[in-house]
Amino acid sequence: MRRLPLLLLWTTLAAAAVNDGIRRYLEKDRIPHWALRSDPNWGPVHVQPEQVHLSWAGPNAFWVTWLTFDDVREAVVQYGKTTEGRNLGRSVNGKMSYFKDGDTVRFISRAKIVLDDDENEPGDFYRYRVGSNRGWSSIYEFRYMKPREDGGYEIAFYGDMGNENARSMGMIQRMVQDGDIDLVHHVGDYGYDLNTDNGRVGDEFFRQIESAAAYVPYQPTPGNHENANNFTHYFHRFTPPNGGDPIFYSYDLDKVHFVSFSTEVYFYTDYGFELIKRQFEWLEKDLKAANANRKEVPWIVAMGHRPMYCSDFDGDDCTKYESIIRTGMPGTHAYALEKLFYDEGVDLLFFAHEHSYERLYPVFNRTVYTGPNSPYIDPPAPVHIVSGSAGCRENVDPFIEKPEPWSAFRSSNYGIGMLRVFNATHLRYKQIVAATESVEDEIWLVKTKHGNYGKNDRRRMEKHGIYVPYSFNASEDND
Ligand SMILES: *[C@@H]1O[C@H](CO)[C@@H](O)[C@H](O)[C@H]1NC(C)=O
Ligand SMILES: *[C@@H]1O[C@H](CO)[C@@H](O)[C@H](O)[C@H]1NC(C)=O
Ligand SMILES: *[C@@H]1O[C@H](CO)[C@@H](O)[C@H](O)[C@H]1NC(C)=O
Ligand SMILES: *[C@@H]1O[C@H](CO)[C@@H](O)[C@H](O)[C@H]1NC(C)=O
Ligand SMILES: [Fe+2]
Ligand SMILES: [Fe+2]
Repeated sequence: MRRLPLLLLWTTLAAAAVNDGIRRYLEKDRIPHWALRSDPNWGPVHVQPEQVHLSWAGPNAFWVTWLTFDDVREAVVQYGKTTEGRNLGRSVNGKMSYFKDGDTVRFISRAKIVLDDDENEPGDFYRYRVGSNRGWSSIYEFRYMKPREDGGYEIAFYGDMGNENARSMGMIQRMVQDGDIDLVHHVGDYGYDLNTDNGRVGDEFFRQIESAAAYVPYQPTPGNHENANNFTHYFHRFTPPNGGDPIFYSYDLDKVHFVSFSTEVYFYTDYGFELIKRQFEWLEKDLKAANANRKEVPWIVAMGHRPMYCSDFDGDDCTKYESIIRTGMPGTHAYALEKLFYDEGVDLLFFAHEHSYERLYPVFNRTVYTGPNSPYIDPPAPVHIVSGSAGCRENVDPFIEKPEPWSAFRSSNYGIGMLRVFNATHLRYKQIVAATESVEDEIWLVKTKHGNYGKNDRRRMEKHGIYVPYSFNASEDND
């Protein structure tokens, strides 16, 4: 029997205190610290799996991610079709990694369920539990993803939901459990903050979101509130499609290429300037490939935490004439995102961070297109939506009195967005008010063609576009 001194184990674990972009998976044949005593009656202390959530791993696959406070040696998902009765006869083994905050070590288990098409069909329901013979979770369910009868998926889009004042929490949980939401994108700012009180706030957040996130894919994007120790909690607690670093990723769901990127690399440069370049080069490659694949996947929707435009009264980046997210590095304009998204014909850009809701008219380079006809039918530039009012302890952000010309609709109600792409031509976005569960804003984005914005689009912009000169109301940055 291999015997590791306890000291060595805990020194190794200590190395995981700050995110360096590497997931340290525990060796399959390791001897956990409690097994170092050759005492069969001695076991781990805290074995109960918790904070269970799903994320997208492929058209027929899910990642399952959960947490334990001790090394339980095995990470297993047991599952079965609901039509097969109570028997959870299938199982898949995952891997455990770990991270540390303060004195607390958290063990993260990850397993990938792949539903092969010989035995499974889109639309099938499954029951599952996670854990090991040391301790099992409650039973949850998931569904092999299948577009709705009249096309596409109902996708919740929002940002900025905390533990305190999480005003949309109950609505999201109910909608997921009732089948009104097929997938969730939470675009940054979780818990406020995941790392607070050595991560206990993060644990509480993931326990609360579990009653939604254990049932449908729960997709992450990093926000400024995740910045502590180089986004340690964000990195460890979430699982992107490829299982690696969730800082940026993309995936195709039905008719949409979704791209999630980090706006935070432009602001937390202490963690590495090279991340800006690495992400930008990845985005260029990813968007070029997606733009060349429009026949198969016509829509491109990109999301990041901090918007390029807004009409809030808080001095944030989006209130600046040359916002960094929009125009790139101050002075040089290197790694400017607006031009990149425009050049690759991105259809919709989704942001949060501003604790309010704002729908924009098509806009590029501070030139806004409002008509003469409906601006959302074959718009000559990307459409931006800012929806960061799911609810948190910072309440809502105030607006400037007179909205900028790009502002088509704005609201200070707490709520979330619902995105549905019905087919190659029709996308619907609705903003739902949490207090009343009613729709306060709804648009149809209609595109008879996808791909690069062309000569005709530029002509329409020149003819009807409104250029918005420098004007903003600055105040203290208090996102
Ligand atoms: C911060 O994390 C990223 C991965 O998210 C990693 O690539 C980078 O090297 C880290 N920076 C530092 C200073 O460790
Ligand atoms: C945006 O407009 C400014 C002038 O208003 C111009 O100098 C700049 O080149 C334009 N940028 C892009 C990417 O078209
Ligand atoms: C700035 O805000 C103040 C107060 O809301 C308003 O009176 C003023 O018109 C605003 N200025 C601009 C340029 O929007
Ligand atoms: C696309 O979906 C919209 C909304 O349901 C519908 O009106 C339209 O007819 C559909 N188009 C096609 C080609 O199916
Ligand atoms: Fe926020
Ligand atoms: Fe934020």
